[in-house]
Amino acid sequence: MLGLYTKAVEIKGALSHDGKVVVLRGWIHRKRSSGGKLFAVIRDRTATIQCVVDKAKVSEKEWDAIEKAYLESSVLLRGTVKKDERAPGGAEVTVTELRIVHSGEQFPIQEYQSPEFLMDVRHLWLRSQKMIKAMQARSYIFRYARKFLDKKGFYEITPPLLTKAGGETGANLFEVDYFGQRVYLTESSQLYAEAMIGSLEKVYSFAPSYRAEKSRTTKHLAEYWHLEPEMAYFDNKRSMALQERLVSYMANSLAENNEDILKFFEVKKEDLLRIKPPFERITYERALEILNEKGVINPETKQKKERFEWGADFGVEEERVLTEDKEKPIFVYNWPKEIKAFYMPVNRDGKTVACADMLAPKGHGEIIGGSERIWKLDELLQRMKEVGLKTENYNWYIDLRKYGSVPHAGFGLGIERVIKWMLNLDHIRDAIPFPRLINRMEP
Ligand code: 4AD
Ligand code: MG
Repeated sequence: MLGLYTKAVEIKGALSHDGKVVVLRGWIHRKRSSGGKLFAVIRDRTATIQCVVDKAKVSEKEWDAIEKAYLESSVLLRGTVKKDERAPGGAEVTVTELRIVHSGEQFPIQEYQSPEFLMDVRHLWLRSQKMIKAMQARSYIFRYARKFLDKKGFYEITPPLLTKAGGETGANLFEVDYFGQRVYLTESSQLYAEAMIGSLEKVYSFAPSYRAEKSRTTKHLAEYWHLEPEMAYFDNKRSMALQERLVSYMANSLAENNEDILKFFEVKKEDLLRIKPPFERITYERALEILNEKGVINPETKQKKERFEWGADFGVEEERVLTEDKEKPIFVYNWPKEIKAFYMPVNRDGKTVACADMLAPKGHGEIIGGSERIWKLDELLQRMKEVGLKTENYNWYIDLRKYGSVPHAGFGLGIERVIKWMLNLDHIRDAIPFPRLINRMEP
């Protein structure tokens, strides 16, 4: 009998073993039988391949086992690889020995199922071709992001996820009972990254952030993975230059190394290879003009929205109008201070702050938010007072401006937003294995 730990080859490479006997390990993806033969499509993490079992050539026990096995039963097979132009992967396997590792129960996912049901059985839906490819892309994109920053001399740091105060608006925090004390799940690790540039100079954290936003859009998660680099002696301009290099490195690496994944999602390799610096930079003021020239439709009322005035924040529709005809991401920089966070320095004009958002093309919208940070003590205290922040929760953060403070900047990239854009997914939920959404916390 085939041993459970027998060495197996990956299905993707099976073609190169033409005429040879191989052992395959996988799950039954599809199955049909006719005239004493059973055709089983076997999947592993690399590909699928058709395997033919001839009743006359295997034992009765083996035949019974595979006949009774369900879709998604786990299986070990030994057989001869045969090149076959007509077969999906270009090869077929004639089975000489098989072992059903676990037959189990009837698989609950049938061919046409509602998105809601597929979310209920997410733990099993992760075995679908779509989710396999998406999760592989996710892993590669994580890898490329880290590789770029490692090459640029960054240290990866690990921030706490439980905090006493928010770094952003603070309006969307999840509360946690911490031994009787009210604390929050972090919405950004930036403030801790800022503390660590005092020793490591260029750092990044890659960790979850939590947002209790009541948004039911295709790009909001309540828990997402946030890549947050922070750099000493960087201004907004240098930070933007780094951001565009990081994003093009990720896009180009995916295009160069993962053509099979892109093909599955019908994404053109050339579109991702085209993502190269420089990205277009427009001021917030110019973005307002564009929105007013083009007009934005309110998706609920189907009416054109009123004129955008200074201070308006942008939502899904505004971002779509700004990026729908773009091939590369764009930066919108120098936003009104009223709609950005307290730590951003006010520009000389007295009304904007030194910051930038990166918006992905084709309507995918914001993928990065970044800025310079106020590094002078009096300026920070003044700004916190202006926006009405209680300083007692930020004592340690304020402290950083008392001892050898340096100019610095940083940014936060939402990795699921990037995955959604690069794979052109309809919904951000498919960029993460177990999405936490406003109406879903299971599985
Ligand atoms: O623009 P945000 O709120 O900026 C910050 O949190 C800064 N402290 C980051 C920094 O400078 N270190 O969030 C940054 C990015 C957004 O551009 C977006 O890509 C992503 O985080 N993001 C979300 N992704 C998925 N679901 C959500 N609900 C998100 N909210 C923000
Ligand atoms: Mg933002």
